Amino acid sequence: MKLANALNMARQLLAGRLAVARRAVDATAGNGHDALYLAERMPPGSSIWAFDIQQAALENTGKLLADRGLAGRVTLLRACHSRMAEYVAAPLDVAMFNLVYLPGASHALVTRAATTVEALRQTALLLGPGGLATIVAYPGHPSGNEERIAVENFLSALPQAAFTVACWQMLNQIHNPPVLYILEKRGGTP
Ligand SMILES: C[S@@+](CC[C@H](N)C(=O)[O-])C[C@H]1O[C@@H](n2cnc3c(N)ncnc32)[C@H](O)[C@@H]1O
Repeated sequence: MKLANALNMARQLLAGRLAVARRAVDATAGNGHDALYLAERMPPGSSIWAFDIQQAALENTGKLLADRGLAGRVTLLRACHSRMAEYVAAPLDVAMFNLVYLPGASHALVTRAATTVEALRQTALLLGPGGLATIVAYPGHPSGNEERIAVENFLSALPQAAFTVACWQMLNQIHNPPVLYILEKRGGTP
């Protein structure tokens, strides 16, 4: 396995689970690459929800999925991911968060610590036994490091008896590379 970057590591961690996953969330649809990754690997009949607050992001995601013949496989929701529990059915097998801003769009529309932590709180409740969430945070962005710290504080305080929490980051790169947080609900098949 090549150590490419945090995004790639997140996908590699999820890859083995997706063939049998029934429910997944992409908490930040963006340009749709993560939603496509889920849709290409999850079985027919499974449910995938993708959230974004920007219409342009949902349009980009919808177009990417349609171009790959996967239109209709993902429910696209123009809503803040802090409202996830209103839309998503438990138990979740997988959730992906790729934080900060949409590449190529306004950097003002970044994810924010308070709503991200609320979305993670709901994710923790929605995950089924063995369910896995990946969160890619960006300490190199001005508000991204504040958000990363809030994410780390929230995840670190989750009870060990119920969750396994880990973190992965490059140690010898300049410019504060992204950090991957991993949240697994305990239980399920080893
Ligand atoms: C780095 S991009 C996501 C990249 C995407 N996963 C992909 O594969 O292309 C982050 C996205 O989060 C979205 N976003 C910002 N705040 C949000 C919120 N509160 N709820 C949901 N999405 C949000 C932004 O609009 C942006 O599109």
